[in-house]
Amino acid sequence: MNIKVIYGTETGNAEMVADDIVEALSADFTIDSSDMSKLSTSDISPDIFYFVVCSTYGDGELPNSAKPFFDNLERDKPNLQGVKFAIFGLGDSFYSTYNKGSEIIANAFSSLGAIQVGERGLHDATTGDLPGDVALPWAKQILSAL
Ligand SMILES: Cc1cc2nc3c(=O)[nH]c(=O)nc-3n(C[C@H](O)[C@H](O)[C@H](O)COP(=O)(O)O)c2cc1C
Repeated sequence: MNIKVIYGTETGNAEMVADDIVEALSADFTIDSSDMSKLSTSDISPDIFYFVVCSTYGDGELPNSAKPFFDNLERDKPNLQGVKFAIFGLGDSFYSTYNKGSEIIANAFSSLGAIQVGERGLHDATTGDLPGDVALPWAKQILSAL
């Protein structure tokens, strides 16, 4: 199976999670990662399984590296039928807009026809847990359920 981890980040935590997932799964899968800012909406393919990793910034907004990709999804409205994805959000429950960014991206993918696999994984910065320590068991569980 071909896997791509796409991430949206402001200060690099989501990128670290993406790197952790790639490293942990590269022995068993063809897998790489990309910043959403480098992705074109036409790159999204049903032949690839997507792990989407996205933080939240501002007041429940997408992080900077996810914004252009999201705007392009809204503009181009690509047909994502047949595309499967799982999503992991990074946020902080100090904010009432806890993990809104990952919710925004998940809703955008679903509204374009993509199928979300499993529950959204969540990292809460307040806990002090390392994001990768939460994301890796989540990612493995997603794959085992596929
Ligand atoms: C200025 C600022 C605003 C933030 N706003 C939110 C928010 O609205 N909701 C949330 O859940 N987390 C919020 N966070 C927490 C970040 O999402 C969290 O620190 C995350 O790990 C950052 O990941 P990143 O480095 O990939 O962007 C905010 C953090 C900062 C510094």
